[in-house]
Amino acid sequence: MKNLTKENVTDKVLGTFPADTNPREREILTSLIKHLHLFVRDVSLTTGEWLTAMDGLYRAGEISNPVRNEFILISDLLGVSSLVDLINDNAPIATETSPLGPFFVKDAPLLEPGGDMIEENSGTQGVVRGHVLTPEGKPIPGALLEIWQTAENGLYENVDPDQPKSNLRRRMKTGPEGNYAFTTIQPVSYQVPDDGPGWELLGMMGRNPWRPAHLHFKISAEGFRPLVTELFVEDDPYIDEDVVFGVRNSLAVSFATNSSQQDADQFNLKAPFWQVEFDFKLQSA
Ligand SMILES: [Fe+2]
Repeated sequence: MKNLTKENVTDKVLGTFPADTNPREREILTSLIKHLHLFVRDVSLTTGEWLTAMDGLYRAGEISNPVRNEFILISDLLGVSSLVDLINDNAPIATETSPLGPFFVKDAPLLEPGGDMIEENSGTQGVVRGHVLTPEGKPIPGALLEIWQTAENGLYENVDPDQPKSNLRRRMKTGPEGNYAFTTIQPVSYQVPDDGPGWELLGMMGRNPWRPAHLHFKISAEGFRPLVTELFVEDDPYIDEDVVFGVRNSLAVSFATNSSQQDADQFNLKAPFWQVEFDFKLQSA
């Protein structure tokens, strides 16, 4: 291409789209190219800085695998995942959403409502229970909950060779009243992984690497939009500094202490234990 200049390169690139480009793909790529060029001009990016960025992306690919996606982590750390999530949110008629994060694994073992997810894990024991409902409050029986959290050491099982496979990951179908319940250990605050380019980015920005304690949920039912969300421990010290910007007001909940042994007996727990009661609302598809 002759007569290319720094002034006309953006228009030259945008002019290469054939007429039959998919309209949505054209819209997305046109905007992406414009913004990337604007960014390069804005900071007068040097060749060395561009190379640093390309090297970071290369290493993000190198460290990623089917159960660990460094690109999702980088998107999370830059607030991009959260922005996408907020733009597509179901609230106020359904439960607020929160990003999926990089640690979801599908096809976890099935657990009956009321079942135990604690197994051999150490930690403070408690129960999470509630319902999956329509926005009008009608129960959704047979909804599939996918639940995952870290162990007491702050690591998910897929990045910790010392944990058994599928530890603290379960799927559960709601009962006839749309009810679900499971016992587990109280989630803990944790730092994002420190061995990849995501961590280096945090260092450049001088940011804290912590996520407040949370449980992840992905909930699906026929005829409803899938819900990806998290429940946070409301008094966690990092509740207002989540490094991936996932906290929403309605998702910060009380992990209240219950001292009744009679209540604990229902779940084979020892009092005192903590309990969370939360009803999820799904939006119609
Ligand atoms: Fe998490």
